[in-house]
Amino acid sequence: MRAWLNQIHQGDCRPLMSAMPAGSVPLVVTSPPYNLLNSSGNGMKNGNGGKWARSALMQGQGYADHGDCMPHADYVEWQRECLRAMLRVLTPDGAIFYNHKWRVQRGRLQDRADIMDGFPVRQIIIWQRSGGFNHNPGYFLPTYEVIYLIANPEFRLAPKAGSIGDVWRIRQDRGNPHPAPFPVELARRAIAATTAQVVLDPFMGSGTTAVAAALEGRAYIGLEISSEYCQLARQRIAAAIAETQPEPEAILPNALDVRAALLPDAAPAPAR
Ligand SMILES: C[S@@+](CC[C@H](N)C(=O)[O-])C[C@H]1O[C@@H](n2cnc3c(N)ncnc32)[C@H](O)[C@@H]1O
Repeated sequence: MRAWLNQIHQGDCRPLMSAMPAGSVPLVVTSPPYNLLNSSGNGMKNGNGGKWARSALMQGQGYADHGDCMPHADYVEWQRECLRAMLRVLTPDGAIFYNHKWRVQRGRLQDRADIMDGFPVRQIIIWQRSGGFNHNPGYFLPTYEVIYLIANPEFRLAPKAGSIGDVWRIRQDRGNPHPAPFPVELARRAIAATTAQVVLDPFMGSGTTAVAAALEGRAYIGLEISSEYCQLARQRIAAAIAETQPEPEAILPNALDVRAALLPDAAPAPAR
């Protein structure tokens, strides 16, 4: 596993995960593309307004290297294959925090039950985020997403972590230029709720899970198809790690050095 740790690996996450040893990762925290551009409605107007958001997603082109517009059945099968690959690398006491969104398309509820069918979903967490700016007179402003906790039988939370409850009220981070990031606090909360020492994100995007892992003192493995987002992730991780480093201590001369500098002709200090 050592070769995988604390790096962002560029490529398609499925073959990359297939190359990892089975049963080697205790925690996955991730948010896949939501297939939002295959939409009967507003598509992806998240009001995030970053460079890629404006130039690509907001103009209906998807992510830098992923169109986010698959036929629904293909999308469901793709996500199920990704989840199978995640479960293959998961340890017997491991868990996956899988962030997604429910929506209604042409009168039909997409509650992602088709993706989750047969997987060991243990709990659903509601992420209550602040709303975007896409006000629509026919709809209440959407303000939540879901996180599926998919857990192997031996998975247990860190002591007392369960008391934070299953509704997580966390504001979206500002200033992240990726079109669809989740907040560092969300990934941090998931990681801190476990004792896992290694965290995998197969859809790493701008590196949020890795930043959270670094802040929680855990190792990370990041997989991401876009070289642009890999670069962004590496920059964010380096900045986060630099912030956590303590300032180098000021090097103070000792008293004898000061005496020698001020009184060059003075007799040497008595030996002790
Ligand atoms: C919802 S975003 C993840 C955002 C991330 N949580 C963050 O905070 O920045 C999904 C990411 O999956 C990436 N992606 C799409 N297809 C992929 C694939 N086959 N393998 C790896 N990454 C992929 C996209 O480029 C995008 O950055």
